[in-house]
Amino acid sequence: MASNSSLLQCYVLVLACLLSSRSSQALMGHIRDKAWHIVEVKSLLPSSVCSSPKEKGFNRLTIIHRHGPCTPQPTNKKITDAQILRKDQDRVDSMHHYVKSAKKATIGGSLSVSLPAQHGSSYGTGNYVVKIGMGTPRKDFSVVFDTGSDLSWIQCKPCKGCHNQRDPLFDPTLSSTYSNVSCSSTYCTQLEKSSCSNGQCQYEVKYLDKSQTDGVFAQDTLTLSPTDKLPNFMFGCGTSNSGFSDRDMTDGLIGLGRDRVSLISQATSNYGAMFSYCLPSISSYTGYLSIGTNSEPQASFTSMVQKTDSPSFYYINLTALKVGGMLLNISSTVFSGGTVIDSGTVITRLPPTAYVKLRDAFQQYMKMYPKAPSLEILDTCYDFSQYPRVKLPTISLVFSGGTNLDVDFSGILYVSQQSQACLAFAGNSGDSDIGIIGNTQQKTVNVVYDIANQKIGFSYGGCK
Ligand SMILES: *[C@@H]1O[C@H](CO)[C@@H](O)[C@H](O)[C@H]1NC(C)=O
Ligand SMILES: *[C@@H]1O[C@H](CO)[C@@H](O)[C@H](O)[C@H]1NC(C)=O
Ligand SMILES: *[C@@H]1O[C@H](CO)[C@@H](O)[C@H](O)[C@H]1NC(C)=O
Repeated sequence: MASNSSLLQCYVLVLACLLSSRSSQALMGHIRDKAWHIVEVKSLLPSSVCSSPKEKGFNRLTIIHRHGPCTPQPTNKKITDAQILRKDQDRVDSMHHYVKSAKKATIGGSLSVSLPAQHGSSYGTGNYVVKIGMGTPRKDFSVVFDTGSDLSWIQCKPCKGCHNQRDPLFDPTLSSTYSNVSCSSTYCTQLEKSSCSNGQCQYEVKYLDKSQTDGVFAQDTLTLSPTDKLPNFMFGCGTSNSGFSDRDMTDGLIGLGRDRVSLISQATSNYGAMFSYCLPSISSYTGYLSIGTNSEPQASFTSMVQKTDSPSFYYINLTALKVGGMLLNISSTVFSGGTVIDSGTVITRLPPTAYVKLRDAFQQYMKMYPKAPSLEILDTCYDFSQYPRVKLPTISLVFSGGTNLDVDFSGILYVSQQSQACLAFAGNSGDSDIGIIGNTQQKTVNVVYDIANQKIGFSYGGCK
C-alpha cells in the first residue's frame, strides 16, 4: 500500500526528472497549462562552455551570440549588461528618429526628399553574429546580422581606418571573382548615399551613434554554406570605418532588411524571397539563419504591413498582450503607432500604456519573489538567489489574424545574475513611437520571413 508520503516522493522524483534536462523542460513548455512556466534558474544562466549542435541544413548559417563562449576568440574586455542595455536604447532611439524623419520626409505616400544616408540602426548592438565566406578562394568573416538595415559590408584592404577584428581583413586583390560596381550600374544609383571615384561606385553608411563605414561598392561571391554560393553579391568593401568599438571584434554586417540592396533582396532569384532564423536561449548555445524557401510549414503567420516611409523595417500589427494566458485590458488602438520585428534590438519596446499593464500583471504573478534593483531600462527585477527553480507566468504577443507569439521562458526575463532577473520588456516614451519586438522575446522560436507572401510566422522549438 503506497502511503501518501511515498506517493509524494514519486511525484517529486518525476518532477525532478522532468526538470533535469533542458530538452525535457522545453517539452514541458509545450504541455504547460498556458499560465505558468516552471523553470530551473540555472537554465537561464549561460554556462562557460559552448554547446553547438553539429547538424547543418540547407543554407544554414550558425548564429552565435557575440558575447558568449561560442565566439571563436572571446575578447578579454567583457561588455556589461548595463552597457548592452544602453546600446540597445541607442539603437531604439535611432530607429525612432529614422521613422520620424522618414515620416516628415514623406508626402503623399512617397519619399519626396532623399533621406540622410543609407541608414543603419546602430551597429553596436546586434548581439548575434554569423560566419559567411567571401571571395574566391573563400575567406571567412564573422558579421553581425541585422534585419533592421539593408547594405552589407565588411572591412577591406587597403584600410585607411579599421577597428580590430578577429579575422584577417578582406583583400580584394586576392579574390579572382571580385569586381567593383561601376557608377552607371542601377544598383549604384539606387544607393541613397553613393558617390563616384574614377567611375567606381563608392558607398557610405552612417549610423546614428556617429559610427560610419565608407568604401568601394563591390561585388564578389558570397558563400552561405559549403555548397551554396551567391555569385556577384553586392556589398560595401569598407576601407574607412570609424566610431566602432574594438570590443566588437566583428568583421562587418549582413543586412537582411526589406529594401533593395539587402542580402535577401539579392538572394531572391536564387533562393526565393524567404529567410528564417532561430536565436538560442542563452549565449552558450547556437542558433541558425537560413536563407531561402525552406521554411517551417507549420508556422502560424501574420501579415507584413507595408510602410513606404521606412522601407527597411519589417512591420507587423501587434494587437494584444496576454500574461498567464489572460488577455490584458488594452485597447488595440494603443498599438496604432506600428510595431517592427527586429533581430538587432535586445529588449521589446511597447507603447507605455501597454507596458504598464503588462508589468502590473506580471508583478501580480511574481509577488512571492523578493524584488531586486532595476537595471537601466528594466524596472521590474527579482532576486532568485534563494530559488533553484521559479514559476513564471506565460507571456504571449497577439498579432492581427489572431497569431500568437508565445514567448519562451528564456525570453521573459533578462537575467544579469541570479540575484537580478528582470522582466525583459520596456515602455517607449510615447504611445505613438513604434513598438519593437526585440530578440530576447524571439529566443528558441523559428521566425519565418516569407517576403514573397508578405507574412511573418512563428513556430516553436527551433533551437535550444
Ligand atoms: C576598385 O576601385 C578602387 C578605388 O575606387 C581601386 O583602387 C581598385 O583598384 C578597383 N579594383 C578593381 C578590381 O577594379
Ligand atoms: C479596461 O480599461 C478601461 C480603460 O482603461 C476601463 O474603463 C475598463 O473598465 C477596463 N475593463 C475591465 C474589464 O477591467
Ligand atoms: C494594421 O493595422 C492598421 C491600423 O492600426 C490597419 O490599417 C491595417 O490594415 C492593419 N494591417 C494588417 C495587415 O492587418
